[in-house]
Amino acid sequence: MTHFSQRVEQVSISGIREVFEAAGEDAINLGLGQPDFPAPEHAREAAVEAIRAGKADAYTSNKGTRELREAIAAKHARDNDLDVDPEHIIATSGGSEALHLALEAHVDANEEVIFPDPGFVSYDALTHLAGGTPKPIGLRDDLTLDPAAVEDAITDETAAFVVNSPANPTGAVQSPEDMRKFARIADEHDVLCISDEVYEHIVFEGEHRSPAEFTESDNVVVVNACSKTYSMTGWRLGWVTGSEGRIERMLRVHQYSQACASAPAQFAAEAALSGPQDRVSEMVEAFQQRRDVLLDGFEDMGLETPKPRGAFYAMPKVPAGWVDAVIDRGVVVVPGDAFGDGGTGYARLSYATDLEQLKEAIEVMREATEAVQ
Ligand SMILES: Cc1ncc(COP(=O)(O)O)c(C=O)c1O
Repeated sequence: MTHFSQRVEQVSISGIREVFEAAGEDAINLGLGQPDFPAPEHAREAAVEAIRAGKADAYTSNKGTRELREAIAAKHARDNDLDVDPEHIIATSGGSEALHLALEAHVDANEEVIFPDPGFVSYDALTHLAGGTPKPIGLRDDLTLDPAAVEDAITDETAAFVVNSPANPTGAVQSPEDMRKFARIADEHDVLCISDEVYEHIVFEGEHRSPAEFTESDNVVVVNACSKTYSMTGWRLGWVTGSEGRIERMLRVHQYSQACASAPAQFAAEAALSGPQDRVSEMVEAFQQRRDVLLDGFEDMGLETPKPRGAFYAMPKVPAGWVDAVIDRGVVVVPGDAFGDGGTGYARLSYATDLEQLKEAIEVMREATEAVQ
């Protein structure tokens, strides 16, 4: 008799989808994890040109085109002051595949993976799919991940820990000092640090630094993508960087599961990474303005909200029944516990929606707050 694997039976379809399905068609959606801006025109054009010229029909090298990997290496030099060899990069189908490769290549059956709780839903699911054991750990009051808590959670069974800054679902930004400590922990305990930096550019206060800048070993792999920075979630283009040995192992997974990232998307990503970057700062300015409006709204309603310093999410503490009351009134928000037990008592809102709709949603949330208090 056929059956399903234990690994897949431990994973369920994300709770976020269920919320979308529960909402009416003309609901204001504050549940989406994607920017509401068009992708840069020069990125789109580069893909169209490559398609027209017949350059995007064939497999590329498994790691991605040399030109794309050079553009990614140049990005790391420009933004992170990191010298990354283009040979030490694999272009992937979004940051999601990059996370999958990192976990598949490094986690043995029953080994533990430590990650933030609440945290991005894929960390738990991909750990199960790799046969590992998820070890979610709670956050500080400001919703950042405490390096000391990570260090305390490490056992002989720990294969990896995940750092995500700026973070989904919290919007928290780790300090450079924390990032330095994460690198030290990876070095001293000889465990892998997977640094998920897909929101790297969306920072309002503080500074994004990568643990890769501080490590003295090769125990950090970096996951990044064009998805959030360039509003290119549909293009499915991300990447992972790591040492030669780690890349070679991750490539084994990528080669057999993906062959290569989609060729048209590789041309678009190369153009996005190496072309003008002003669209990114315009988008970040818009997000910051919306965040401030949303935080003022929550303050007026009396909802305590740890101040998000990056990404485009906020996590207010909400009274019982609040999420349902908001959804019933036509605004989609996600219950915090969809991101782990540590999210209980919170809701996650994405403010990747225009200011007018956001203001409308704030009024709806105000009514819902009054109704449940
Ligand atoms: C923290 C985090 N990492 C990775 C991803 C995956 O991004 P991609 O769309 O590039 O697969 C997401 C998407 O929401 C995310 O929030």
